[in-house]
This record gives sequence, structure tokens and C-alpha cells, in this order.
Amino acid sequence: MLAPDQIIYLDNNATTQVDPAALEEMLPFLTSYYGNPSSGYRFGSQVRKAIDLARERVAALVRCEPSEIVFTSGGTESNNAAVNSALQRDPERQHIVTTAVEHSATYRHCQYLAKQGCAVSFASVDGEGNLDLDHLEAELRPETAIISGMWANNETGVIFPVEKIAEIARRRRLLFHTDGVQAVGKLPIRLADGLANSCSMSAHKLHGPKGVGALYINRRSAYRPSLIGGNQENARRAGTENVAAIVGFGKAAERAMEMAGQESTNVRALRDRFENTILAQVPSSFVNGNRAARLPNTSSLSFSGIESDAALMLLDRRNLCCSAGSACLSGSLEPSHVLRAMDLAEERLRGSLRFSFSRFNTEADVDQGIEIVPHVIAKLRSMQTTV
Ligand SMILES: Cc1ncc(COP(=O)(O)O)c(C=O)c1O
Repeated sequence: MLAPDQIIYLDNNATTQVDPAALEEMLPFLTSYYGNPSSGYRFGSQVRKAIDLARERVAALVRCEPSEIVFTSGGTESNNAAVNSALQRDPERQHIVTTAVEHSATYRHCQYLAKQGCAVSFASVDGEGNLDLDHLEAELRPETAIISGMWANNETGVIFPVEKIAEIARRRRLLFHTDGVQAVGKLPIRLADGLANSCSMSAHKLHGPKGVGALYINRRSAYRPSLIGGNQENARRAGTENVAAIVGFGKAAERAMEMAGQESTNVRALRDRFENTILAQVPSSFVNGNRAARLPNTSSLSFSGIESDAALMLLDRRNLCCSAGSACLSGSLEPSHVLRAMDLAEERLRGSLRFSFSRFNTEADVDQGIEIVPHVIAKLRSMQTTV
């Protein structure tokens, strides 16, 4: 096994290191405090209190009421559940408007629903990954059930104008769901003003554990649960809670709040030094996505004349972890649907790499990154010219 101190981890949009403070709070719930939170005796109700505290902490991070937070197994479940709920509300409304660059947790779910007979429209983006709001609005129909649009893109980091989407949804009296998985913990979020009807989150993107997340559901929005069974989560998500993970998520949310301003400044500085140096040192390298309206931690770069899977292999040999598009797509030769939707030239599609930073990255990581990446790109280009 590769030890963490052997690697240069620049893939924080795929997942993040668990904050030691979150792990510390989780452990007793895997050992001593194993009671079922639904049990009436104190050994159970003390566990319920820990879940309640986690709910308060997550709600504080995204500025909503604790009662509006439903814990789930992560971003995928939350996105699926929000869209499914909208479709169940009215059989006459079986049309979804989403975007061409959603994470597969929405994108593939919508493709699946389309095969089941649902109508789906994918709003387009421009060459910098900015959402075409006019196109999104033009796709709305009387039978539209929901608009589902992400807050920030996992591949390019491009931030969508969620306030403007919300305004369109309000005007047309439509539900608006946003996939906040990459935004929460990286951007200031305020859901209290009824911005969206629902918003997805995932703990492992913000230094919490994997397999736990949340769906914010506005208290005035009707919701049809996807999982039916017990009355957990106020009857909005049946199943015994993943207690330790929820506790870890709560602590990670609290830490994200404590670190917020400082973290985004520091992480942005690391990202910018890395990106600017690579762009200066490597000819024919390009940033994918709107550089101004981007997450502070994400750098999607394309290098002409290389194949990203070959680059990933050489980078892996140097113990540098990054990705070629979203984690789910790595390993497949198909270029990402996100970069394709941006209509990038074939060469830029094939040679794209995503680097994403977090507060656990150091200046030394950047130093190593800017030494290794240009070297790998040069090597791949020289191999191409000698073949
Ligand atoms: C934007 C976005 N949405 C949803 C997900 C899925 O989240 P999870 O891994 O918690 O299911 C991810 C994970 O990469 C993501 O980046």
C-alpha cells in the first residue's frame, strides 16, 4: 500500500483526506456507543443526540434550519432522490430540465429516466463552461417537473449562477434542485432564503468520511422519499442511520466553517501558483473553464499532443494523483461529457488533466507538482515525435 506521505495528492475533487478531528469524533460511535438512535433508552437516545448535533453543524455550514437536513449515503443518492421526488409529485409533469455538464449522479440518472419514458432537456454551456441561461429557460415546458442544475462543476470548477436559475424557477413556479456537492465547504452557501427547493452535499468532498451526505429540503417544499421503511430522518429517508459517518460529517462541516475564509485564500494561492507555473513552463497548455468564476481549488488543464490516460500513468509512477475528468470516468477512453459539452477541440479533450487542491496540500506539493507535470508532458510529447 502507498502511504499518504509518499504521494502528492492533487485530486481533492475526487475525494479528500478525512480531517483527524472528524475521525476522532467518529471512533467512539464504532466502538462504545453502538446503540440504535431510534431506541427509547438512554443508550440509544445519546446516539440520537450526536446525530442532532451533526445536523445542526451541517445546517450551520449551509445556513438553513437543522430540520431541513436529511442525511443520506452521499451526493449520488441525494441527487437521485430529489429528481425522483419531483417526478412522483405529478404524473402530468414528467419533464426534467438539467444541464449538459452535470455529474453522472444527475446526468446518467436523467439518461436512465429518459429511457424509462421521461422527457429530459440538457441546457448547454459555452466554451468556458458557463451555463446558457436562455437555453435553459427556453427548454421549460408546462409539464416540467424540476430544474436540476449544479452549483459548481466537479471537472472545471466553473460556478453556475444558481441565484439566476432560482429566479427563473420561482417565476415559472418550478422546483429547483441544485447539486451542491463541490460547492459546499468551498464557497459561502446560504440556503435559508429559499434559494433552492433542495441541495445535495457529500461529506467526503469536505474532509468527512465517504458514504454519507445530505439532502437539504426546504421546509415548505413537498418531498416524496425514495427509501420507504422506518421513520428515520423524519420519515424522509428510511433506514438505520450511518451514525459514525454522520458524526464525522458534522465535525467536518464545523471544521469547514471554522476554516472558511482562510482556507479558500490559502488553497487558491496554492492552485494559482501551480497553474500559472505550469502554463508558463509548458507550451500549448490551456485552462478549461471560466478562470474568473471557478472554485478556488480546481485547475482543469489541457495539453495538446498528449493522451490524458498515458499522462495519468506516468504521473502515477511519480506518485502524483490527479484525474482526467471526473473520477468515475477515469480509466475509460471516452472523453468527459463535460469538456465535450464545452465543444473543445478534440486535442484538448484528449489531453485534459484535472488538479484539485485542499487545505491539506502544502507548498511542497506544489513544488513537486510543478517539477513533475512539465517533465511528464515533455516526455509524452517526445515519445509522440519519435514514433
Ligand atoms: C458534483 C458532484 N455531484 C455528485 C457527486 C457524487 O457524490 P458521492 O460520491 O457522495 O455519491 C460528486 C462526486 O464526485 C460530484 O462531484
